[in-house]
Amino acid sequence: MESVLPHDVPSGPPAGLPDPSVLASLANAFFSALPGSAPQLSGGRAPAVLPGVAGTLPLSAPVLNEVSNPAPAGSPLSGPGGTGTGVPGAALPQGHLPGGNLAPSAPTHVLSLGNRAPALAPHAAAQNGLPDNVVTVAPALDPRLGGAALGVPEGLGAQRPSAGGAPLPSGPSAASPSASPYYFLGDAGQPRQLSPASQDIVVPGWTEVSAQSFGLPGVDERLSEPRFPYDRPASPAPASAASLPAVAVAQPAASSHYFLGDAQSSRYTALQSGKPHGIPQAGASAHPPFDVNAIRRDFPILQERVNGRQLVWFDNAATTHKPQAVIDRLAYFYAHENSNIHRAAHALAGRATDAYEAARSKVQRFIGASSPEEIIFVRGTTEAINLIAKTWGVKHVGDGDEIIVSHLEHHANIVPWQQLAAQTGAKLRVIPVDDSGQVLLDEYKRLLNDRTKIVSVTQVSNALGTVVPVKEIVELAHRAGAKALVDGAQSVSHMRVDVQALDADFFVFSGHKVFGPTGIGVVYGKRAILDDMPPWQGGGNMIADVTFERTVFQPPPNRFEAGTGNIADAVGLGAAIDYVQRVGIENIARYEHDLLAYATSVLQPVPGVRLIGTARDKASVLSFVLKGYETEEVGQALNEEGIAVRSGHHCAQPILRRFGVEATVRPSLAFYNTCDEVDQLVSVVKRLSSRR
Ligand code: ALA
Repeated sequence: MESVLPHDVPSGPPAGLPDPSVLASLANAFFSALPGSAPQLSGGRAPAVLPGVAGTLPLSAPVLNEVSNPAPAGSPLSGPGGTGTGVPGAALPQGHLPGGNLAPSAPTHVLSLGNRAPALAPHAAAQNGLPDNVVTVAPALDPRLGGAALGVPEGLGAQRPSAGGAPLPSGPSAASPSASPYYFLGDAGQPRQLSPASQDIVVPGWTEVSAQSFGLPGVDERLSEPRFPYDRPASPAPASAASLPAVAVAQPAASSHYFLGDAQSSRYTALQSGKPHGIPQAGASAHPPFDVNAIRRDFPILQERVNGRQLVWFDNAATTHKPQAVIDRLAYFYAHENSNIHRAAHALAGRATDAYEAARSKVQRFIGASSPEEIIFVRGTTEAINLIAKTWGVKHVGDGDEIIVSHLEHHANIVPWQQLAAQTGAKLRVIPVDDSGQVLLDEYKRLLNDRTKIVSVTQVSNALGTVVPVKEIVELAHRAGAKALVDGAQSVSHMRVDVQALDADFFVFSGHKVFGPTGIGVVYGKRAILDDMPPWQGGGNMIADVTFERTVFQPPPNRFEAGTGNIADAVGLGAAIDYVQRVGIENIARYEHDLLAYATSVLQPVPGVRLIGTARDKASVLSFVLKGYETEEVGQALNEEGIAVRSGHHCAQPILRRFGVEATVRPSLAFYNTCDEVDQLVSVVKRLSSRR
């Protein structure tokens, strides 16, 4: 039989690749040529080309030297002479050109690159089409070149005249599909010459981050006595087989924390108390002054250039940006804690589990739940509502029963209930709204009856911004004997939420709309209700014991978290919540209230503007249409000025149709936006308005 043992594999480089020693010397030649001059790679090799950057690879000083200073004037992020590291206190090494500091700082780097020499082979291309040598140096280039280094095209706008002088998009071509894979960009999606305007801010590297940055114990101080509440059978395996699939519930483990014996829990508890390592927490009575400029410096993407302009992000209802603390926390997790959770005796499993469960506790406190067991991690609000409809709903809603939603709902709070109704024979009833976009409570009262099983309403409308009186709605639902779900996707980043004060049975939200990562969201459910709910997905992590005859499920929340979840992003969400709480949600609410009032006051009077959604209580959203323009044209014109808004139906078609439109332009504000940015938006709208 032919051997397949490794020692039979021919040694040396694969056919066509140079010998590693040659490649190591190429690597040495490469680095000795830096900084300040083009790498002199032997063999007549052509300089590599970065996707997204026309011309030759800018490893030479002339291109990288064109560093603009993207930090705001006076910002501690800006360096002397307009070029800085972007990191307060972190000066560029003397004698190094900005961007030219690609040479490794220690000789061992050369050695290690030599060991990876095959990646430097001139023709070696990564699967994404990037030459491997570019990938090899990417860590140093990455912050400076941004998406271009990764082959992500940026808009052409830096070369475009501003909307003030350019023809505005109009006619069918403006809306026609373009060759660009990017919505809205059209030809702008083509690679372009790197210009000073496209240089990105340099953000602190993750290596500058320590465990203490996140209120964690140092790596050496970490707690190390494992407990195994998750892998240990919670109850003896059944002696005799019942028929499949039987459902039983395990008793909660003695400690909800994986690695912590009772003797150790006090330090952990201190970490979870919200006062880790002296990080000031903004309490209700001691809010620090709200400094929007300081806040903006925490969000590196706000320094991004789009079409030659500094990005103005008014698409916060679609997703919010992430503060450096969240970005760093994710990097820290993958650098120091990454492991599966609840499953192993090793140290990283303990760290990852502790970090994940600490994030659950942060969510619990953030929304005022009574225990972490009431917090289930899911992918986002859509999955959260689906979970409830498909578990609680299937169990409790039957033929002839009624489900109430409001006219304001996002499709995610309509479709799962429609599906449930189709499956069970239940009916979907809809609370109407008035002409301002506020729900009609009297009509709602008329809809309630003893067949009503659940009322599911948004707290803030994503399309109109209406703040819905959910406390009253929940109370009325309860009086009718129904359960109540509050969709907090658009509320948690704008106002204090206390699920116990609301008395909501369920509350759901997405991490990415509260400055956390995408792919992580939350179901809050009252403990007694969750206890009574069957699981919706089966698999690992959600079980206490499995035989072929019978499965014993974990209690909530694990019962609803089958499989390996989004561990890192849950941890990132915890960091986002820490950040929001440091700023203070009341500070945020107050600032945004004033900003929205200002934005409304300057946008509403523009001729041709019709605001869609004028309720007295609104948060964040300023939906409008402009006479003579398709909403997409307005969105494109704003994009040309670096201003991001959503234009379209916002996944809320029924409420837009209620107002006789299929789409709106929707600026949506967050606490890092400013009046100046509002003025920029309004000036584009005014210019459009004056032309038709
Ligand atoms: N639900 C998100 C929005 O309103 C995507 O834009």
